[in-house]
Amino acid sequence: MLHFGWFVGHGFGVQGWGTPGYGLGYDWKKPALYQDAVRAFEQCGLDLFIIEDSLTVPDTYGGTAQVSLAHASFAPKHDPLALVPYLLSVTEHLGIVPTVSASFYPPFTAARLLATLQHFSNGQLGWNVVTSGSDLAAQNYGLDQQIEHDLRYEKAEEFVDVVRRLWRSWEPDAVVEDVDAGVFADHAKVHAIHHEGEFFKVRGPLNTAPLPEEPVLVQAGASPRGKAFAGGHADVAIALARGAEGMKAYRDSIRNEAVKAGRDPDAVKVLFVFKPTIAGSKAEAEDLRAQRKELSQRDIDAQLNSMSYLSVIDFKQFDLDAPLPELTTNSNRGTLEHFTKAAPPGSTLRQILQARSGGAGDSIIGTVEEIADYLEDIGAKVGGDGFLFSGFVDPVTVHGVLDRLTPVLRRRALLRSSYGDGGFRQNLLGF
Ligand SMILES: Cc1cc2nc3c(=O)[nH]c(=O)nc-3n(C[C@H](O)[C@H](O)[C@H](O)COP(=O)(O)O)c2cc1C
Repeated sequence: MLHFGWFVGHGFGVQGWGTPGYGLGYDWKKPALYQDAVRAFEQCGLDLFIIEDSLTVPDTYGGTAQVSLAHASFAPKHDPLALVPYLLSVTEHLGIVPTVSASFYPPFTAARLLATLQHFSNGQLGWNVVTSGSDLAAQNYGLDQQIEHDLRYEKAEEFVDVVRRLWRSWEPDAVVEDVDAGVFADHAKVHAIHHEGEFFKVRGPLNTAPLPEEPVLVQAGASPRGKAFAGGHADVAIALARGAEGMKAYRDSIRNEAVKAGRDPDAVKVLFVFKPTIAGSKAEAEDLRAQRKELSQRDIDAQLNSMSYLSVIDFKQFDLDAPLPELTTNSNRGTLEHFTKAAPPGSTLRQILQARSGGAGDSIIGTVEEIADYLEDIGAKVGGDGFLFSGFVDPVTVHGVLDRLTPVLRRRALLRSSYGDGGFRQNLLGF
């Protein structure tokens, strides 16, 4: 049995612009689109839904936001935390995971908001803690540029520690509701945290009610420092990798980091981004593969615009038919490496784009049985915990994948057919 989730890489943003699913019966700005998607995810037995977020209108590619806005890529987008109550109101078991920036949210605000949302749910809340590598985002929060890569992770570590200590600032039995004694809560069981660290100064205690279950921490660190953070603190590590070898190496390194931090490695589930394209027959799959290799200017611009934003390097400057030079970034290191290593060393930028035409993470074009074979095989080789389907949440995409794949995965006992009563964390720990 594997855990499955869905990652919406466009966040609470435009879903399916440029595809047949765009605008079909829904307005991306309203909750109904996402509510119907999470209903489908829960009916199909997925464990979690992760909502990406970012904080800019990217203009790194060619020094203009033209491609970002023409393709509705990264912008416009709404705040995912505001969507969460709507998603909780139509689900009972599915983990709902908004993205929270450790760089730009004050920890008290994050702890309070997330605690409030968790109280609305049946223990379903998660938080995707990111460090936000973009200088453009930093410039929206009073900085000229983002702080140094590894220092960002130090800050994120302190952020998570403060948020968790705030959640624990009320002892679980602090609320007594003793009508006869006239005591709602026992003050001796509610504690200030008096935190004074390198990045934050927070007195506490939190002023929300104590949590029966803390939100599940999701993290996508991929650099050495990022993996130490994910292994040390995450309940779910999410990653981009292609094929069994890369996935196994990533999972092993996260589990090692967990052990180094004194944790049980089985307490961290490692999920890989996976984009299936379902074909009706082997011949159609061949056709689709051939079509993918034909890059349009739109594909080229979309991919390079995205990498320019994620790496803070303007990819417009590079010759498409020359080998890509060695690149480093202060932003998303693992994501840049995943891009540059899509094709063998010495490949041209065009060859890299062709090799990753299926998108970031692992992707496969095949019949449902071929896709199920692949997931079963790779899951066994990686010792794996599971996969995150990625894509828009318009009905054409969601039902195109899940309606056909779910019955096959269920028949093979790879996908759960029911949930326990223990909430998101217990669902993850169930197998
Ligand atoms: C599946 C996945 C989802 C991510 N979601 C977000 C996100 O919503 N917002 C964000 O700023 N970064 C996001 N990231 C970027 C990561 O938080 C992280 O910066 C990236 O994986 C690179 O980390 P590294 O510098 O340690 O290699 C995501 C990465 C992955 C692989």
